Amino acid sequence: MKTITVLVGSLRKDSVNRTFAQALEKLAADKFRFVFPDLGAVPHYNEDLWQDLPQSVSTLKRQIEEGDGVLFVTPEYNRTFAPLLANAIAWASRPYGKSSFMNKPGAVIGTSPGAIGAAAGQMHLRALLPVVGVIQLGQPEVYLQWKPGIVDADLAFTDATTREFLTKFINAFDTFIDRTALDEAA
Ligand SMILES: Cc1cc2nc3c(=O)[nH]c(=O)nc-3n(C[C@H](O)[C@H](O)[C@H](O)COP(=O)(O)O)c2cc1C
Repeated sequence: MKTITVLVGSLRKDSVNRTFAQALEKLAADKFRFVFPDLGAVPHYNEDLWQDLPQSVSTLKRQIEEGDGVLFVTPEYNRTFAPLLANAIAWASRPYGKSSFMNKPGAVIGTSPGAIGAAAGQMHLRALLPVVGVIQLGQPEVYLQWKPGIVDADLAFTDATTREFLTKFINAFDTFIDRTALDEAA
């Protein structure tokens, strides 16, 4: 069982990205245990706060470091990724040389009611992650258009094709984490 730190870029109570992450957690229950850091508790990035580091930040860094992998789940805002994620990533990437993401296997997914399924937002995030040390899964990309009923009240994906596709993603991420660990050990 692998522990995946899941960073969801929305604080909204009815966030489709959070629901997506929770449904994926259920689909991946035989492989992954998801940990959801409280990104809403993390203050806006301010260099001065390192003098007396807020506990929310040290907890975030620890949760990322302890995980076997990190999953970024982003809404698309104005064709880029969510500012909540930008803030969390800034904190976790510092102090310089001590990024919590260093050599961590990571993957990006996201959903939007729009037809491109947060693809543009994800691309910006994918460009950023190597800078902070994430070793990134390339395929499969997950651009999910969120439609009413895509997930039922028990957080199960209702469509078999979607379920199959997301199972492929889960298996690919699982294998990728194993491969990255082997590379690190070598
Ligand atoms: C500031 C803002 C910008 C947005 N820009 C986009 C966009 O570029 N593309 C898109 O598909 N949806 C866009 N949306 C709609 C979001 O995809 C939609 O609100 C979605 O439900 C947000 O994710 P969440 O439900 O997880 O909070 C935008 C929403 C907001 C609030």
